[in-house]
Amino acid sequence: MNKKIIIAHRGASGYLPEHTLEAKSMAHLMNADFIEQDIVLSKDDVPIVIHDIYLDDVTDIAIKFPNSKRKDNRFYVIDFTFDELQTLQVTERFNPATGAQFYKNRFPKGKGNFKLHSLQEEIELIQGLNTSTGKNIGIYPEIKEPKFHQKEGKKITEIVLKVLSDYGYKTKKDNCILQCFDANELERVRKELNSKLFLVQLIEFKEETKKLKHFATFADGIGPWYKQILSEKIDGKFRFTSLVSDAHKLDLTVHPYTFRADALDEFSSFKEMLETFLIDANVDGVFTDFPDLVVSFLRNM
Ligand code: G3P
Ligand code: CA
Repeated sequence: MNKKIIIAHRGASGYLPEHTLEAKSMAHLMNADFIEQDIVLSKDDVPIVIHDIYLDDVTDIAIKFPNSKRKDNRFYVIDFTFDELQTLQVTERFNPATGAQFYKNRFPKGKGNFKLHSLQEEIELIQGLNTSTGKNIGIYPEIKEPKFHQKEGKKITEIVLKVLSDYGYKTKKDNCILQCFDANELERVRKELNSKLFLVQLIEFKEETKKLKHFATFADGIGPWYKQILSEKIDGKFRFTSLVSDAHKLDLTVHPYTFRADALDEFSSFKEMLETFLIDANVDGVFTDFPDLVVSFLRNM
């Protein structure tokens, strides 16, 4: 993979509620290179596209099924069948304790008519749009919480790999990048389940950045939190850790997360943030809630 890639993080989630088919269609229209799917299993083993194992911060589950929460007060995707999940309304992300919308200026919470969907439905949408538009936009699925699923007696990884294979995603040439935060599981995907897909090891904690050599034995790339690439700012210029160059020496691509025009942290503009990572730090792609802005930035580079 030579060109810098734009990964639509949970779809065009800066504009429409995350992981809805509407947000995925918009990302396709915006010409993202890949569209992301976070995956969790339902009670009846359907792979559902949703960010968390919980339902209560993006749906009306607490109103529709008030008595179905667990002892920790959370509602779990895995406790509901696909048919039950389809009765829920999906909304812009909010804090279930306060009801407050997470990103204030995004799509208004509670508006519209959005539904949960399966991985198969999303792949059919993206492949259908590829056919009707002549584009070749890829998918970037993430296996969520494999240990949790295993404890619940579920084989999420095998189920996801089977769906991917059924839809033609089998090798590194098939426009699919499979990601996971759990390194043991991603290693198992390569070494025990013999997947030939392009694999990306997600990195959450700083100490994991020291394990690149090990990751390179099974993965093709890493997906770090972008802060792990930054070290300090001197005279207005950002300096970097050795993460990107260390990864490149091992032939690992680097796709940091998550680039949000409405959550800039230490950056004065989204343009500065994109310049810092895509040009100065030389990453190979970015996860972004605003694919249109990154498309336009790269076009004008
Ligand atoms: O998967 C990479 C990116 O999505 C960051 O992780 O927590 O948003 O799934 P998360
Ligand atoms: Ca993800």
